[in-house]
Amino acid sequence: MAYPHAHPREARVLSKHFGEKDAIPIDGWIERGGYKALDKALAASPDDITQIVKDSGLRGRGGAGFPTGLKWSFMPKDGGKPNYLACNADESEPGTFKDREIMRWTPHQLIEGCIISSYAIRAKHAYIYIRGEFVDVVRILNQAVVEAYERGYLGKNIKGSGYDLDLTVHLGAGAYIAGEETGLLNSLEGRRAEPRIKPPFPAQRGAFGMPTTVNNVETLAAVPHIVLNGADWYRQWGTSKSPGTKLFSCCGHLQRPGNYEVPLDFNLRDLVFDLCGGPPKGRQLLALIPGGSSVPIMTADEIDCDVSYEGIEAAGSMLGSGGLIAMDDSTCMVRAVRRMVEFYAHESCGQCTNCREGTSWLAKILRRIERGQGREEDLPLLLDIGANMAGKTICPLSDSAAVPVVSAIQKFGREFEAHIQDGRCTAVN
Ligand SMILES: Cc1cc2nc3c(=O)[nH]c(=O)nc-3n(C[C@H](O)[C@H](O)[C@H](O)COP(=O)(O)O)c2cc1C
Ligand code: SF4
Repeated sequence: MAYPHAHPREARVLSKHFGEKDAIPIDGWIERGGYKALDKALAASPDDITQIVKDSGLRGRGGAGFPTGLKWSFMPKDGGKPNYLACNADESEPGTFKDREIMRWTPHQLIEGCIISSYAIRAKHAYIYIRGEFVDVVRILNQAVVEAYERGYLGKNIKGSGYDLDLTVHLGAGAYIAGEETGLLNSLEGRRAEPRIKPPFPAQRGAFGMPTTVNNVETLAAVPHIVLNGADWYRQWGTSKSPGTKLFSCCGHLQRPGNYEVPLDFNLRDLVFDLCGGPPKGRQLLALIPGGSSVPIMTADEIDCDVSYEGIEAAGSMLGSGGLIAMDDSTCMVRAVRRMVEFYAHESCGQCTNCREGTSWLAKILRRIERGQGREEDLPLLLDIGANMAGKTICPLSDSAAVPVVSAIQKFGREFEAHIQDGRCTAVN
């Protein structure tokens, strides 16, 4: 079965076998070349594997784009404590639905990635912290873990290498903040998913007080391909600062929404109009969020850039998680932003005053603007609150809540003013 959203202009590395039901069980995965990379990895040293991943330039796909090999190199080599790997499968960023598909169609791609990455950081236990609502995916993943144990890819003395690894699938309980890496670690330990103050960073003091690397599903799923084929092979795609391919979860007002995997030098406008078919017929693209709701909103004129980390940044936004949300001219920008902010207000863990109070006040003011009861001073007030929320809190959720508001006012100020001054909405019916 062809994956419904596949497109000839994609570069399908991680998503190559999406839609193929017989790729899910371990035999189907091995037939497709699965676990060959693990054999290769176990024959090399952990430091060699870290070096290959460093050379490949792979950057974390969870949102921040931190270089993966460099992150691994922060892990102690013989600190006398157990090292852990925590795979972040919480996938909580609004607009993002790629990790779910990796796990649903190719669970062994992720498991193999977890084993190789654990080997590289000398971990003896790996956790996959998965969003609890992904009930069907959890079943698939659990079955795949059982198969990997049965075939000797997990457990003691993996494939006679002398390396031992256990892997636990741990279910989250549906909080956005459990996707933040230290919130995740607290939740894994059975505590509330409240982010921790850093330093210490997870590589110093992570799960259960032990050195831990936290990596996103898509990051870890890329590792077997890089180890098997080499760093230069991976660098055939993308730019020097953003090598490789990336999955974009495309949703909103698009004719062909879905997951698309493209090289990181792919053009953003082509992604929206060519692969996703653009907005529905008769509609104009009004705005685009390229990397999940936490990144600045772009206007339709700003999207002539490549989708690399630096390309989108130069165009005024961020690649983030690759959750692309398209909005056509039927969108009320005030309403769209208000709904995003309500989400952040609900999901704030409440530890920091600027975040707890700031998100609630943003939501309150946006609600009255949407109702046509906005005040002349509301736009400067929103910008002032936004400025006081950025860079002042334990984790970046606070910044994330302010970003859509500030960028929307800067770029779509006319829409906000129409609501405040004339009590009307500029959205096209
Ligand atoms: C509020 C918040 C939510 C986050 N949610 C996720 C998430 O659902 N999945 C994810 O991989 N990273 C998420 N992150 C980023 C993680 O903190 C962390 O940077 C990431 O898992 C590291 O993996 P990477 O280096 O492979 O990108 C979130 C960050 C914040 C601040
Ligand atoms: S910024 Fe918000 S979500 Fe993050 S720790 Fe502070 S209160 Fe919690």
